[in-house]
Amino acid sequence: VKYIPEPFRIKMVERIKMLTQEERIEKIKEAKYNLFNLRGEDVYIDLLTDSGTNAMSDGQWAGVMRGDEAYAGSSSYFKLIDAGKDIFGYDYIQPVHQGRAGEKVLFPIFLSKGKFAISNMFFDTTRAHVELAGARAIDCVVEEAKNPSVRAPFKGNMDVVKLEKLINELGAENVGLVVMTITNNSAGGQPVSMANMREVSEICKKYHIPLNIDAARYAENAFFLKQRDEECKNMTIKEIVSKIFSYGDTFTMSAKKDTIVNIGGLIGVKDGNSPMILKIKANCISYEGFFTYGGLSGRDLEALAIGLYEGIDENFLRYRIGQMEYLAGKLDEAGIAYQSPVGGHGVFVDAAAFFPHIPYYEFPGQVLAVELYKEAGIRTCDIGSFMLGNDPDTGEQLHSQFEFTRFAIPRRVYTQAHIDIMADALIAIKQRASEIKRGYRITWEPPILRHFQASLEPI
Ligand code: F0G
Repeated sequence: VKYIPEPFRIKMVERIKMLTQEERIEKIKEAKYNLFNLRGEDVYIDLLTDSGTNAMSDGQWAGVMRGDEAYAGSSSYFKLIDAGKDIFGYDYIQPVHQGRAGEKVLFPIFLSKGKFAISNMFFDTTRAHVELAGARAIDCVVEEAKNPSVRAPFKGNMDVVKLEKLINELGAENVGLVVMTITNNSAGGQPVSMANMREVSEICKKYHIPLNIDAARYAENAFFLKQRDEECKNMTIKEIVSKIFSYGDTFTMSAKKDTIVNIGGLIGVKDGNSPMILKIKANCISYEGFFTYGGLSGRDLEALAIGLYEGIDENFLRYRIGQMEYLAGKLDEAGIAYQSPVGGHGVFVDAAAFFPHIPYYEFPGQVLAVELYKEAGIRTCDIGSFMLGNDPDTGEQLHSQFEFTRFAIPRRVYTQAHIDIMADALIAIKQRASEIKRGYRITWEPPILRHFQASLEPI
């Protein structure tokens, strides 16, 4: 696979420290085998997340200087909502400090004890906010998503037959919200098709259930649609985005991903007359700050407004998705399994295939993540049973549908040579995989979102 050249050049660099392997082995032990406990400066290639780790452009940095810090009615706020309305076609745009802040502000408006929320797949914080609102979260992704080696074009899709069945079983009045996550992060950054969005929206309308789009990686989803969806091949990215969003009622967005900033988020409401807007403003004022800044500084609002447009640039997206395809091509050559075809923001390596002898409750995804740090100073994370955690009702370890180790690639940060190091490290570990006999046990964990803080030890 050919590497798509960068549609930018480097104007400023960040130097990185190089540790020896012995030093890394010591550091990860001190970090209780949880990569979230490492210091960033002890990491060579940081693929923990593509969230907030992106490189802003000179245009965005210039915007930072122009940011208007007025407490109420800042000009940067108006610039942001104009961009939001222009791109998404929604009447009301609310800035918040990041994605989960949007979830915290919006979800309690729809969800309470006894209610359910159904999604193609919830991201972990999104699931947590459903539960914090007192409701229960149910994933309803298509079957092909569960088999990493099946190459299907839209593995992010909702299983619409199962969705309708679930609504009937639970009772439509008990389903407070349907959430479409685009791209579907937990399934491997997999896209959702336009037809699937439409079908889900029709089901929601039929049963009078609001449809929220979890839009963290909406631009990558739109690029995949341009490549793969017959309906979209002659549309611009902006037209595709506007059509996808036309099927939703609201959206929550972590702008730390496709909007290429280091902090920020948005809530959108399509209908400017919705009584929900007053509640959003009230919740926002309590939790985030006055509704014209939503927990962000004026300079953040300005960078976000500019990033919204840079993120939907087709040349940028071709390079961006091209980086994933280049890495995936190297893994194909080496016979390393991953969620395929490769997703939009990273490569989700099938750790269960790497370590078939390590059971889910010894966390194969975490085993591979620790090995990658030791091998090459690469920081990745488990997207599997370690991340999924325990059943909120019984406290028992849940068995994830996948055991992935996620290589989430920050935007405009790493070069072709860095990507080669990622592939070489995986190949080296594959050669000694059978020597790694056991996984990890948890020695301490907090009650919610445990993977961020838990301590582990090798068994
Ligand atoms: N929704 C999705 C699909 C996400 O991937 C994330 C964050 C959020 C919501 C929450 O947004 O972090 O701004 O509060 N995902 C990051 C990740 C953290 O690494 O995948 P946030």
